[in-house]
Amino acid sequence: MKLTVGVGLLGCGTVGASVAEALQRQRDTIERRSGVRYELRAVAIRDPHKSRPDSIDAGLFTRDARALIEDEHVDLVIELIGGTTDAAELVERALERGRHVITANKDLLATQGPRLQALAASRRAMLRFEGAVAGAIPVVRTLGEALAGDDIYAVAGVINGTCTSILSAMEHGTSYAEALTEAQRQGYAESDPSNDVDGIDAAHKLALIAQLAFGLAVISPRVRRKGIAQVTQAEIARARLLGLRIRLVAATIKTAEGLMAEVGPVLVAHDHEFAQTAGNENVVRVVARDAGTLALRGAGAGGTATGSAVLGDVVTVLRAIRERGELAPRGRIGLLEPAIDVAPFFNELDRSSELPGYPLWNDAAVLRQTCSKRRLRSVR
Ligand code: HSE
Repeated sequence: MKLTVGVGLLGCGTVGASVAEALQRQRDTIERRSGVRYELRAVAIRDPHKSRPDSIDAGLFTRDARALIEDEHVDLVIELIGGTTDAAELVERALERGRHVITANKDLLATQGPRLQALAASRRAMLRFEGAVAGAIPVVRTLGEALAGDDIYAVAGVINGTCTSILSAMEHGTSYAEALTEAQRQGYAESDPSNDVDGIDAAHKLALIAQLAFGLAVISPRVRRKGIAQVTQAEIARARLLGLRIRLVAATIKTAEGLMAEVGPVLVAHDHEFAQTAGNENVVRVVARDAGTLALRGAGAGGTATGSAVLGDVVTVLRAIRERGELAPRGRIGLLEPAIDVAPFFNELDRSSELPGYPLWNDAAVLRQTCSKRRLRSVR
């Protein structure tokens, strides 16, 4: 019986490089939380001349993605190549061979997801894709697991960071072209940014959301969409005078007749949470029968944010491998570390002069504490 899970990474771009680094940096944490030892066996790349972070062991790079999948020592394949050509063939082959697959590839899942899910199920392989929708925000888990016992009525949100980043920059006078270049520089935009600005990326994510929320095999070509390329600075300024902002909104609703889904630029009251997004921020609102309305908000694009979602899937897959008994058990399995010290926090908050008996909530104070290494060590 195996002692170590072999991991193969396909792609070392913005997200792939973040994941490769995190698999090395977070090894102790991931192994403690999953109870499983793992080994990154290889990282498949297309262009050997492209510069990569020094922190990734150069000996791991290979140009032979197919051989990586066939390698008997690879149990888990993480696909971060993107697109629907090579990635489709590689994911399909990996699942056929019974490898577990984690992907952030919404293009692939939004067009071929139902078929790939069926293939995974037939091989008892796991197919996880938290990184495919809204970056670091756990939308897939929320819809597919946390709310799986409820009846979801609607999901709506701002789910393309590149569009939000462009529209919010244009509000401050930046031109459309400059704002798009900046979004590309930040690593938010897809390799073909027309996927973002034409609403294709958001339609892919919305199709995945509808699959998860309603259990329906919705594919993205069925979703009506419009992008933001035609939005002008004059329209943005006019909206602003009316107390409104323009955001690319994606919405899907279950109706008595069936399903509605659409992506497009929408005017939103300036104090609504959709309008309050800037940069790569996404917001997703879910309306369910029993849970009521939930709002999830955070970084929806970028290498490290999306990498965080991928790493969460890695822990989930490793745990499941352990629970299925595919590995020989090892000593300490996912035990909680003893709490050394738990410091109080509310003393760090200011007091209101009107009600001095109560601390005044301040999100920035939380951030300040989180950034304090000394305190982090003391509560670890
Ligand atoms: N291009 C995407 C966006 C990346 O801008 O939101 C995350 O899916």
